[in-house]
Amino acid sequence: MQAVVFAGVGEPLVCLERPDLEPREGQVIVELKAAALNRRDYFITQGLYPGIKTPVVLGSDGSGIVAQVGRGISESWLGREVIFFPGIDWGDNPSAQSRAFRVLGMPDDGTLATSVAVPAELLYAKPPHLSWQEAAALPLAGVTAYRAVFVQGMLRQGVSPKMGQAAGVHDLEPVPSAEQPPRAQHVLITGIGGGVATFALQFAVAVGAEVWVTSSSPRKIQHAVSLGAKGGFDYRNTGWQRELIKLSGPIDLIVDGAGGGGYAALIEAAAPGARIVSYGATAGRPPELDLFKVFWKQLHLVGSTLGSPRDFAAMLDHVNHHRIRPVVDQVFALDDAPTAIARMAHSPQFGKLVLNCGI
Ligand SMILES: NC(=O)c1ccc[n+]([C@@H]2O[C@H](COP(=O)([O-])OP(=O)(O)OC[C@H]3O[C@@H](n4cnc5c(N)ncnc54)[C@H](OP(=O)(O)O)[C@@H]3O)[C@@H](O)[C@H]2O)c1
Repeated sequence: MQAVVFAGVGEPLVCLERPDLEPREGQVIVELKAAALNRRDYFITQGLYPGIKTPVVLGSDGSGIVAQVGRGISESWLGREVIFFPGIDWGDNPSAQSRAFRVLGMPDDGTLATSVAVPAELLYAKPPHLSWQEAAALPLAGVTAYRAVFVQGMLRQGVSPKMGQAAGVHDLEPVPSAEQPPRAQHVLITGIGGGVATFALQFAVAVGAEVWVTSSSPRKIQHAVSLGAKGGFDYRNTGWQRELIKLSGPIDLIVDGAGGGGYAALIEAAAPGARIVSYGATAGRPPELDLFKVFWKQLHLVGSTLGSPRDFAAMLDHVNHHRIRPVVDQVFALDDAPTAIARMAHSPQFGKLVLNCGI
């Protein structure tokens, strides 16, 4: 088999010939058709991720065909077209992962390879309407977006008659009458070029939310509008949130993967009783947090990481039901993985970067 091996921070990524994998008890070997990159892979190569262990094959996402099964696993899996949940040992608690939890692709060898060994319990059928590349783009970013939007963000299908209702807060808006149609839920998604952000947009649009976005790129805002966003703002422009509030009215849910200095604008943009869900901190820790606004506006500041196996199954149902197609920005050959990962340094992409592993 071939694998892209990360030997350590400062070392070049190299595509090497390696001995073929043998499944251990409870595992399957998937011959990969495609794999996808996540910012995690980039952070690891830069030494910006906790607990880095090398040498390792990076990559959390893949699509392919089950080629071998280990002891205890039904042979009926053989030949099936699959994707897999990239979280190992989530545990029994749907609210949070166990201490043993880890993401495929460090410390366990991942998907930037022609085959990967995964626990059989992580396997799911590949959505039939997706290409191999689209299917590979889905798992990690898709489940992160799904949990952030629907589980931690509590966005619901259709309209939101009362803000704050999901959290048990008393009505903050008048209950709509028959003459006054209920208003769609208003959602803000930051850094829309990101892989998770793009899925969050598609997932929220599919349930009828009015979605606004931020980006450093007018081109990406236009792309987001073509996917159903109402409009967008450049997060580098001071005061963009005031323009947003003028156009949109109150924002019920903010889904953010950036943090940093821009977090203060999110607190301002949030309506009373709103939720701000953080799934990442690409721009680092917020230098300050205006707690006065947080408690006076009755805000819910919520964290979200990956998702449980149950969230993953629900995400797949959502994708299959709405026939959502992941946005694939560019496809590279497997041995071009170093170029693809280097491309993430300045995030020119909209959506996902994918590698062909066996196509
Ligand atoms: N908790 C979890 O389980 C989990 C899972 C997945 C990802 N994450 C984290 O979430 C973050 C995004 O991951 P990803 O894979 O979606 O990354 P990605 O595809 O590499 O997205 C990067 C995007 O972040 C946006 N961005 C950068 N600086 C920003 C800022 N100051 N304000 C707003 N947006 C900014 C940019 O959007 P524009 O190009 O539009 O400007 C950029 O395109 C990363 O920090 C990642 O580690 C966490």
